[in-house]
Amino acid sequence: MNFKRRRKTLLPKTIKLAASILSADFAHLAEEINLVEKAGVDFIHLDVMDGHFVPNITFGPAVIKKIRSVTDLPLDAHLMISEPNRYLEDFRRAGVDILTVHQEVCPHLHRTVQKIKRLGMKAGVALNPATPLVTVEEILTDIDLLLIMTVNPGFGGQTFIETMLSKIERAKQMIRKLDRTVEIEVDGGIDGLTAEETTRAGATILVSGSAIFHANDISESVKDILKKMKSESKRD
Ligand code: DX5
Ligand code: ZN
Repeated sequence: MNFKRRRKTLLPKTIKLAASILSADFAHLAEEINLVEKAGVDFIHLDVMDGHFVPNITFGPAVIKKIRSVTDLPLDAHLMISEPNRYLEDFRRAGVDILTVHQEVCPHLHRTVQKIKRLGMKAGVALNPATPLVTVEEILTDIDLLLIMTVNPGFGGQTFIETMLSKIERAKQMIRKLDRTVEIEVDGGIDGLTAEETTRAGATILVSGSAIFHANDISESVKDILKKMKSESKRD
C-alpha cells in the first residue's frame, strides 16, 4: 500500500506494526502517539466501538480528526459498529487512510467496499474468530486488507486465540492464488511471542495495544515487537 499523502510510506517494509491506541492513556494521547511513531510503528490503529456490535464504546470521527493533526502515520480505522455504511464519509473527512468494516454487519459487503475505495481509502474487511474465511472468498479480489481477529472484539488486553493461527495460514494460501496483494492484518493479544507466531503463519500487519501501551517502556516494547517480527519474516 502506498500513502502518497503522508510523509511516511509503507513501501520499504513488508511486515508492518500498527499501534492500537485503545490501551493508550487518553489524557496523554498525543504524547503516546508521538512515542510510538518515533519508536518505529507503521500505523496508528483506531478501534471504533458502538456498544451495540461490541459491548464497549470508544470514540468516533471527531477524536480521529484531532489524532490526524498530531501524527504523519497512516490511520488504520477498525470499525466495530453495527451500521458502518452511515459513517464512511465522516471517517474519510476525519483523515482515515485504511477503513476496515466487519463482514458480520455488512449484508452488501461488495457495495460497502466499493464505496470505501471510491472515497479514496484502502478497504479492509474484518472477521470475528468464529466467522469462517469462506465468507470473504468472493470479496478478496476487491479488498486491500483482510483483518483476522485473534480475540473476540470489544476490549484490549485479551488472550490470543491460538486456533486462529491456522486461519491465518489458510488466508495466506487463499491470497497466494490471487494475482494481487491483500494484506493480512491480525488483531488481538499480540505481544513479542504471538508476533513471532503470527508472522510465521503469514500475517503482514500486526496490531498491538496493551503489549505496547501498558509496558513500562513504550518505546522498548515497540522495538521488541518489531525485532521479533523481522526475525521471523527473514526466515520465510
Ligand atoms: C479489540 C481491538 C484491538 C485491541 C487490541 O477489539 O480490535 O485492536 O485494541 O488490543 P490488545 O493488543 O491489547 O489485544
Ligand atoms: Zn482493532
